[in-house]
Formats: sequence, structure tokens, C-alpha cells
Amino acid sequence: MINYTDKIPNNVDLGRDRVLQRALEHWQPAYMGWWYDMGPNESHNYEVYLRTAISVEPDGWAQFGYVKMPDYRWGIFLQPRDEKREVNFGIHKGQPAWQEVPGEYRSTLRRVIVTQGDTEPASVEQQRMLGSSCPSMYDLRNIFQVNVEEGRHLWAMVYLLHRYFGRDGREEAESLLARRSGDADNPRILGAFNEPTPDWLAFYMFTFFTDRDGKFQLCALAESGFDPLARTCRFMLTEEAHHMFVGETGVGRIIQRTCEVMKEHKVEDPSDVRALGVIDLDTIQRYLNFHYSVTLDLYGSDVSSNAANYYTSGLKGRFRETKLEDDHVLADAEYPVSEVVGGKIITKNVPALTALNERLRDDYIEEIADGVGRWQRVIDNAGIPFRLTLPHKGFHRAIGNFAGHLISPEGEVLSEEDWKNHEFQWLPSSKDYAYVRSLMSGRVVEPGKFANWIAPPARGINNHPLNFEYVRFN
Ligand SMILES: [Fe+2]
Ligand SMILES: [Fe+2]
Repeated sequence: MINYTDKIPNNVDLGRDRVLQRALEHWQPAYMGWWYDMGPNESHNYEVYLRTAISVEPDGWAQFGYVKMPDYRWGIFLQPRDEKREVNFGIHKGQPAWQEVPGEYRSTLRRVIVTQGDTEPASVEQQRMLGSSCPSMYDLRNIFQVNVEEGRHLWAMVYLLHRYFGRDGREEAESLLARRSGDADNPRILGAFNEPTPDWLAFYMFTFFTDRDGKFQLCALAESGFDPLARTCRFMLTEEAHHMFVGETGVGRIIQRTCEVMKEHKVEDPSDVRALGVIDLDTIQRYLNFHYSVTLDLYGSDVSSNAANYYTSGLKGRFRETKLEDDHVLADAEYPVSEVVGGKIITKNVPALTALNERLRDDYIEEIADGVGRWQRVIDNAGIPFRLTLPHKGFHRAIGNFAGHLISPEGEVLSEEDWKNHEFQWLPSSKDYAYVRSLMSGRVVEPGKFANWIAPPARGINNHPLNFEYVRFN
């Protein structure tokens, strides 16, 4: 029997909700079983300096202290309710926001919540072996922070399933613990969440690119007319910011270290750079190309009647919906999408309602481009003549209008032969992965020490110095 107020911090009055308590009584032990099996490997006895959300108040969502991860207090938090909130788009625009699931949207909403929920444990599974090759105690603490918060995001979605979807919701919540990233028989729902995260460069790229997809999906769901979903996603966004910070600064610190070594030794050729034990910029570019392209696929088909239905029904909005100035119905609006016709990429206008996936993808790309620009400044400041670029949107895509076409990073449509000749100039090869992995053969955990291939961060966590003991191994 769980002591609810102690063990599960929440602002949903869990102590008085018997139905929810009973559902969680079954699910919580199964969740712990999943964490022991699929959470960070060999970490269960470590005491980790973690941030825990214990309330939604400004001083309550970021409480720091040492915690053994299996004892982490995975809580259930929703942004406080705004009694006057309305459905802000689609055919129900202007109605009071829904506090219960509208019957006609029940299965669609459940699907949306399950798809979001499935990504959360998936990324924990993808990252579970990385602790044994961490570049520092600071980074080890950060990956554990990301992992426990993805666990909490799973709790957040399971809360919605348990509270609002009855028996089907409980079954879906169990399935969320049964699927496994990369499993041949029972994989995670979305492609990028079945890719391995084999090393720390991949981890930082993942948290920069793929957690940011999470942010944009959460932003779109935070506009939902189904108020509990909107409020849940709003609160999740506070945590997502840290995940993207870990990714952006992680890649930035790798770039910085590489540039320092290149300057110091006056080398530019990738093999000379590698000989000095850091990751050459070309390899970083190839990882970028890979993570960017597989993440773009997560937004779905460029033209999608499902996306149109989600919007029209008021279930999933656009990025910053309420800040946009238009009719919020998109009756006559158009939006440009690209496709390949006769060996050329052309752009045409389609009804904006059907292009909402593409629009969200474009909003995402804009933010990604800013982040890549910040990485570029690290290279520029070192005076190294190398340009990091975002490949063309159609590069290496498996979903949408570009799927089935071979497109170069510059946006040319290629023959299979041309593609094959260049593929591993553009995407990481098994040799690249082997090289990166060779740098990460063991973990660096002496407080204040960092692996040779990465620069220290500008500052520590919660104002602590870099040599703070962020993890205590017992
Ligand atoms: Fe998440
Ligand atoms: Fe995340």
C-alpha cells in the first residue's frame, strides 16, 4: 500500500481519489519493475544530486538533494487550472475548455496521450547503458536527471489514462511498460525511439534534437481543449528545458574541446584531429545530420488528414496557438509543402489545415537553426574555418513526401548510385561510431575531472562548483 501524500507528490488531490489510487496501486509496482530492469544500468544504489518537483509553486518544482533513483518521488503535477480557459481553436472555439473527455474524441485523445507517453520510457531505455562511459560526474548526474524526469513524464501521461479513460486507460498504461525500445516484437511506437543511443555524442544530439521534438509536441498539446492534458503538458515543459540544455551544452562543449585541440596543435585534417583523442568536426556534422533527419520524421506526413482532424476537433493546436493572429479555424488559409516531382523538389500551397504537421516541423526547424548557430559561434570564435550546416529538410527522410527519395544535404535529388557514393560522407558510418566509442571506453567520475574529448561546462548544477560530488557511489 502506497502512502500517497509522502510518496507521490501531487496537486491532483490523489489522497482523496480512490479510483485513481486503486489504479496506481497496480501500476506503481509494475513501473518500479520496469525501472529496475530498464532504468539506468547498475545505478540503483547511487545517491544522485537530483532535482525533484514537489509542487508547482515557484520554489517547489526544483528541490535539490541526494536521492537513490528508485526512491525518486515521481509526482503528478498539472499547471493550476484557469477557470476561464476556453477551447481556443477549431470548431469548438469559444466553448469552455473540457474538464472531462468528450465522448466523440475519446479514442483519438487516448491515442494522442499513448503516443506521447510511449516516448518517455523509450528514451530511458535508449540511454540506459551510458552511465558506464560518462565523461564526468557532472554529466552522469545530468543524464540521471533526464532519466528520472522522463520517468515522471510517463507518470504524467499514465495519470491522464487512469483518471480519464477507465479500463482502456489502465490497459494502455500497462502496455506503456511492456513495449521496449528497439524490440523486434514489441517496439516503441515511433521510429526515432527505436534507434540506439550508442554513445554520449549521440545522447547530446538526442537531447538537443529529439527532446526538442518533445517540446514542440508538448507545446501543441498544451493548447488542447482537453484541459487536463493541456495543464499536464504545460508543467512537463518546465522539465524539458533542462533536457535540451543538456543536449545543446553537451554538443557545444565537445565542439569547444575539439576546436581547442585543433588550434593548439594546428591541425585540421580529421585523422590528425582524431589522433589527438577528440571528435573531428566532420563526425559531429554527420551525427547532426542523422539526429536531425530522424527527428524530422517524428512530425509525421507533410499532408495529413489526421492532423487536420486533431486541430478541427480542438485536441492539438499549433505552436503558440493563442499568440497567433488569425481565425484559429484555418478555413481558407494555405501553407507551403514540398514534394519531389520528376526528379526535382517543388513547393506548392495546400490547405493549411492539412499541413499542420509540416508547420510544426518548420517551427521546430527555426529553433534548431538558432541552436546550431550558437554551436557555429564556438567554432568561429576559435577562428576555425568550418561551417556546421543543417541538411535539407528532405535529406534521409523515411516519412512524408520525401520518403523513398534520395536527397543530398544540399537538396538535390540523387540516383541510388550517387547516394551510395556519398552516404558515409553525410551519415555516421560504423567506423565513426567505433571511433567515438573508443574514446568512451570507461567512465570519468573523479569530482571535477572531465574526459579529454569534452570541455567542462561553464558552471555546475544549482550553483555548486564543478568538483562537487554530484553522484555518490555506494
Ligand atoms: Fe519527456
Ligand atoms: Fe525530455
